[in-house]
Amino acid sequence: MSERLYLYPIWLRIWHAINAFMFLVLLATGLSMQYSNPDLPLIRFDLAVQFHNIAGLIVTFNYLIFVAGNLATKNGNYYRLEIAKLYKDLSLQLEYYLIGVFKKRPTPFPINEKRKFNPLQKVTYVATMYGLMPVIIVTGLALLFPEIIIEKIFQSSGFFLTAILHTIVGFMLSLFLVIHVYFSTMGSSPTSNFKSMVNGYHEPH
Ligand code: HEM
Repeated sequence: MSERLYLYPIWLRIWHAINAFMFLVLLATGLSMQYSNPDLPLIRFDLAVQFHNIAGLIVTFNYLIFVAGNLATKNGNYYRLEIAKLYKDLSLQLEYYLIGVFKKRPTPFPINEKRKFNPLQKVTYVATMYGLMPVIIVTGLALLFPEIIIEKIFQSSGFFLTAILHTIVGFMLSLFLVIHVYFSTMGSSPTSNFKSMVNGYHEPH
């Protein structure tokens, strides 16, 4: 059995806790604004708008901390993709999730000081944090300050396209959240990864 590794520094855990909580606020208020019957809203519409705007701004500032932290510390190294080996590594990890896990085979990419994420996790985190997050933040800020939006894009309303893009990426991030929490239960015990995000230590298998 390998030793416990300190993989989640305090700044990362604080970033993650704020991010996770604010995401739940954004999800509840976003869904309420999108689907509520105006006469019977899940959350009162004006309140939902206000909470959504505030949580969005907090997530935005918090995101800058994530990017700065990853640039300034070695945590950023865990997000470097090895493009040449990507296809092979992803196939191995997928096979493990589909078959190996149920046959109690050892994980093909055990966690160590140099490798915090398995390839599938890494691709998902990179796509989410450096792909989807910038899009949701920029479109969110544009909707908050609509005067910066280009009026017409290919004859269509720029505001409408921005709102559609914001909503689509919001749904993709919500999907990420569900999958993320589900896969987080696949640690050495169903709760070990959640404990790691509290005490900073990865529990080995
Ligand atoms: C209720 C909500 C959430 C829970 C319970 C949760 C749970 C966890 C857990 C247990 C880990 C540690 C396991 C691992 O390294 O993969 C983790 C890491 C991570 N989570 Fe979440 N998460 C939540 C929301 C989010 C959201 C909304 C995002 C981004 C939009 C996110 C992005 C990440 C990232 C990037 C890591 C890796 C951080 C690093 O070690 O560099 N999480 N999360």
